[in-house]
Amino acid sequence: MGDVVWPLHGIRLRTAELDLRVMTEADLPTLCELLPDDLQMNPHATTYAGLDDRANRRAVLVQGYWRALGMWSPDDWALPFVARSSDGVIGVQWLEGPDWRAERTVDSSSWLVPAARGRGLGTQMRAAVLALAFDRLGASAAISSAVVDNGASLGVSRALGYRETHRSVLEHSGEALQHVRLERASWDASGRSRGIGVDGVGPALPYFGITEEE
Ligand SMILES: CC(C)(COP(=O)(O)OP(=O)(O)OC[C@H]1O[C@@H](n2cnc3c(N)ncnc32)[C@H](O)[C@@H]1OP(=O)(O)O)[C@@H](O)C(=O)NCCC(=O)NCCS
Repeated sequence: MGDVVWPLHGIRLRTAELDLRVMTEADLPTLCELLPDDLQMNPHATTYAGLDDRANRRAVLVQGYWRALGMWSPDDWALPFVARSSDGVIGVQWLEGPDWRAERTVDSSSWLVPAARGRGLGTQMRAAVLALAFDRLGASAAISSAVVDNGASLGVSRALGYRETHRSVLEHSGEALQHVRLERASWDASGRSRGIGVDGVGPALPYFGITEEE
């Protein structure tokens, strides 16, 4: 039913160890339980004076999901995936297309529960959304960014062939942010698509402004 009224929910990605499905309302309670304390949330999100830090962080998570659905357009979209391993839900991987039809450039962000980190799963789930972006949506480049001391996030980018472009400073914290970029040609040459399953994209293509399956 969900796939019929909102075909984006029918997109499904598979890697060697992970199954990624587009987040649904039913995932929100589990994700709120698992939300790691060390994850930097959107500093511009609404906060509620009567709530403690944990409840506010959960509100950012669930409102982020609803915002993604409600504000979707082919020119500016954000698609959240829930990643599952044989242990169950282990994290979230976002793929975003800001100014998508003009730039054909995707951004991404992700988190894993602490027990799932450092085992290559972050690299697998980023590779899964890159396979969707480059191989099915026709992206020309992927960008990402992380604070300079986030070795794991920058490590995922490095492992997948992104190159460093420039640094900026985060307004709210003063931290230095490293920006990285991966061109389509580098992705194609890497052969990273092999072994990644991407299904259910056809009915969702109009939502990305793509009128015919390429
Ligand atoms: C960022 C995150 C998703 C990365 O996933 P992960 O599964 O831990 O990363 P991987 O195991 O795939 O490691 C990717 C690369 O980074 C390296 N790496 C991993 N952790 C590292 C660390 N703490 N410091 C330096 N390098 C690290 C790995 O060696 C690997 O490089 P290699 O392929 O050359 O060996 C995960 O660590 C996480 O959830 N962190 C907290 C939330 C966060 O910071 N999210 C990013 C902000 S958007």
